[in-house]
Amino acid sequence: MTDPYERSAEFVDVMMAPHWEALGPPLAKALQAFEPGPVVDLGAGGGLGTLVIAEALPDAEIIAIEPSLALRSVLTARMSERPALRDRVTVLPEGLLQAALPPRVGGVVAMNVIGHLTPEERHRLWDLLAPGGRAVLNLQPPAEPVEVPMARFADLRLGRHRYEGWGRAEPAGPGSVTWHMAYRVYEGERLVREITTAYAWRVLGERALREELAEHGLALTPTGPEDLGMYMIEEDAHV
Ligand SMILES: C[S@@+](CC[C@H](N)C(=O)[O-])C[C@H]1O[C@@H](n2cnc3c(N)ncnc32)[C@H](O)[C@@H]1O
Repeated sequence: MTDPYERSAEFVDVMMAPHWEALGPPLAKALQAFEPGPVVDLGAGGGLGTLVIAEALPDAEIIAIEPSLALRSVLTARMSERPALRDRVTVLPEGLLQAALPPRVGGVVAMNVIGHLTPEERHRLWDLLAPGGRAVLNLQPPAEPVEVPMARFADLRLGRHRYEGWGRAEPAGPGSVTWHMAYRVYEGERLVREITTAYAWRVLGERALREELAEHGLALTPTGPEDLGMYMIEEDAHV
C-alpha cells in the first residue's frame, strides 16, 4: 500500500491538533456508550484521538491501527512517553484487512479516516461490530464526487515559521474524489518550503452509509454538534 502521508506527516499531525479541540469532547461523551472490551482506533494518525479515548475510557485496552510509517512514528512516540499508556495501547502497522484483532471488540473509533477505506475494508469494519459493538466516526464533505475549490484549512505558527495547509478535490470516478494538498512554510512573507501530495478519498454521505449499515443490521445516529458530522453506529434495535 502506498502511503499518502509519507511526505505530509510532519504537517498533518500539527494541523489536526486544532480540530481535536472540537472533536475531543463529543467523542469522549460518545465513548461512554461503548461496551467493555478493547477499543480499536482505526487510522489513529499521530494519536491525538487515541489520547481522547485513553482519557475517556481509563480502563480500556486500545488497539491503534496506523499503516503510515511516518504518522505511526508520531503515534508510537506520543503513546510511549506517557507511562500510563504503555501497558494498554498496542500499535498495529497493518491495514484493517490484515490486522490481527481480538474476535470481539468493545468498539471502533474511525475519525477522519472513512474515505480512505475500500468498500471491502468498510464491510470488515461493520462485521467487527457484531454483536454489541459500537463505532464512532465522522463523515467529511463532499458526499458526492464533485469539485471542491482550493481552500486554506490550516494556518499556524512554529517558531520563525508559519505553516499553511491548502486542499482542493476533483471528481475521480463514480464514488471517489482525488484530494490535492499543498503544505507551505513561510518565513515572514517568503515561501521557504512547499510539499504537495494527492490521495484518493471515497465519498460517502449519510444516506449511503445508512443503507450500507442496514445490510449489517446496524443503525446510524448523529452524535455531538451537527457541524462536526459525527455519528454513532450500533446494532439496530428494530431488526
Ligand atoms: C486524516 S488522518 C486521521 C488521523 C486520526 N484518526 C485523527 O483524526 O487525527 C487519516 C489516517 O488514516 C490512515 N489510513 C489510511 N488508509 C487507511 C486504511 N486503509 N486503514 C487504516 N488507516 C488508514 C492514514 O495513515 C492516516 O493516519
